[in-house]
Amino acid sequence: MTRVTIRAGGGNTRGRRRQAGGTRPPADTPERRIAIRAVRRRDLDQVIEIDAGATGVERRVYWLSVFRRYGDGEGPERHFLVAEIDGRVVGFIIGELRDWEFGEPPCGWVFAIDVAPEFRLGGVATRLLGALRAGFRRSGVRKLRTILARDNTLILSFFRSQGMMTGPFIPLEMDLDV
Ligand SMILES: CC(C)(COP(=O)(O)OP(=O)(O)OC[C@H]1O[C@@H](n2cnc3c(N)ncnc32)[C@H](O)[C@@H]1OP(=O)(O)O)[C@@H](O)C(=O)NCCC(=O)NCCS
Repeated sequence: MTRVTIRAGGGNTRGRRRQAGGTRPPADTPERRIAIRAVRRRDLDQVIEIDAGATGVERRVYWLSVFRRYGDGEGPERHFLVAEIDGRVVGFIIGELRDWEFGEPPCGWVFAIDVAPEFRLGGVATRLLGALRAGFRRSGVRKLRTILARDNTLILSFFRSQGMMTGPFIPLEMDLDV
């Protein structure tokens, strides 16, 4: 388990300065410990609640299936991590190692990241991504990739802040019912 100490609302070395729609924890709250660890079955209700807050849909069956696939915490290929503050799950990240996709050397993929609104702008997602990156590095991969919706400027701002840049691939899709 990775443990780091952050000030709520003031977690990273660059300092925190914005309000997230008034949801940022007050700057004068005492120091809290954030723990990054592998998900456990009993975390799922909180994960589902965070996801439902972002998507507007409670997807219990989907999350049970994700937990079965990514939640064993054993192999180096699949990672489902949560961030915990004062015993509460406040965010999660999911990623996997993909082998020789499109002829490319193995790389890490992050395909879900979410932080509860009242804990945003406190460095939680940065810590989650940092732990995922460390896990992939231990597996020997040197590249992290993701894909995101064009209009999701929030997640784009976050990934850009972490150093991610436009990659060499373009997404394509087609309707299968024609
Ligand atoms: C994107 C998200 C994960 C960021 O979580 P977070 O814990 O607030 O992120 P951090 O505090 O680690 O922020 C790191 C950097 O991201 C960028 N960032 C984060 N929130 C931002 C915002 N609201 N506006 C602009 N930049 C932002 C900033 O550069 C920030 O660094 P700074 O505060 O030093 O400027 C969170 O806002 C979220 O869960 N959003 C909704 C979920 C979502 O859309 N998920 C994607 C689908 S998988």
